Amino acid sequence: MTPGRIDTTKPHPARMYDYYLGGKDHYEVDAQAAQQVLNHNPYAAHGARALRLFMQRSTRYLAAEAGIRQFLDIGTGIPTEPNLHQIAQGAQPDARIVYADNDPIVLTHARALLRSSPEGRTAYLDADVREPGKILDAAELHDTIDLSQPVALSLNALLHFVPDEFHAYDLVQAYADALAPGSYLVISHVTGDFDPVTLAKIIEIYRAGGIPAQTRTESEVARFFDGLELVEPGVVPVHRWRPAAGDPSSDYTNAQAASWAGVARKR
Ligand SMILES: C[S@@+](CC[C@H](N)C(=O)[O-])C[C@H]1O[C@@H](n2cnc3c(N)ncnc32)[C@H](O)[C@@H]1O
Repeated sequence: MTPGRIDTTKPHPARMYDYYLGGKDHYEVDAQAAQQVLNHNPYAAHGARALRLFMQRSTRYLAAEAGIRQFLDIGTGIPTEPNLHQIAQGAQPDARIVYADNDPIVLTHARALLRSSPEGRTAYLDADVREPGKILDAAELHDTIDLSQPVALSLNALLHFVPDEFHAYDLVQAYADALAPGSYLVISHVTGDFDPVTLAKIIEIYRAGGIPAQTRTESEVARFFDGLELVEPGVVPVHRWRPAAGDPSSDYTNAQAASWAGVARKR
């Protein structure tokens, strides 16, 4: 049975991502749209895997090397182990994480995201990134993290679902303004730079399914970090950001991974 608000007549990005990652939390309509994407680009699942592995590497870097103990992860996705809090708390057991996503299916799985370490804490907000006031003022957020202290804001594989008509740069600026000095911004973002024709077709499939979507170029992704200090190696193809030994995405081509990624610090 389909719980409450879940719409199984239209594809949803979280559920298509789940399909690419080999999960079970999607419906026929998502599988069909994802298969259409795979028909144009047999490497779409590589792209999803490269994005998920970047989330893991960047979180590990922030918790283990930069000493960050508070995370705000918007566009969390359907839980896929290891989730962000498991990585952060693996390095900092008392890490506190606030998750937010606007897809009702992610809400139905929130319990898995709320299994915090005993020393740390996690919270889940059913919210849209396009409403920064709602997220930044939420009582659950303030009960979990302290915005006067450094926070890592993760916008991983999210902003390509926020086309320019939704003022993506102003939104990111509003979140960055709310963060304390020493905070970090993490972004991964699908690009057509390495294969514009294929990516244009993929964006068309998402839009035809009612999902707002847009690729951005290297300089357009870099612009999200304006005013912040990029951590080495800067904005790079997602699988080239501090690759870890044994990471399966290290061997991908830029066209297979098809995303830019970066991490920057607020002074
Ligand atoms: C491709 S998944 C990324 C999951 C995870 N961040 C990762 O990197 O593995 C994108 C997620 O963004 C969510 N999303 C899309 N548009 C959103 C919006 N306007 N506000 C909040 N979440 C959104 C989708 O529901 C989906 O769960």
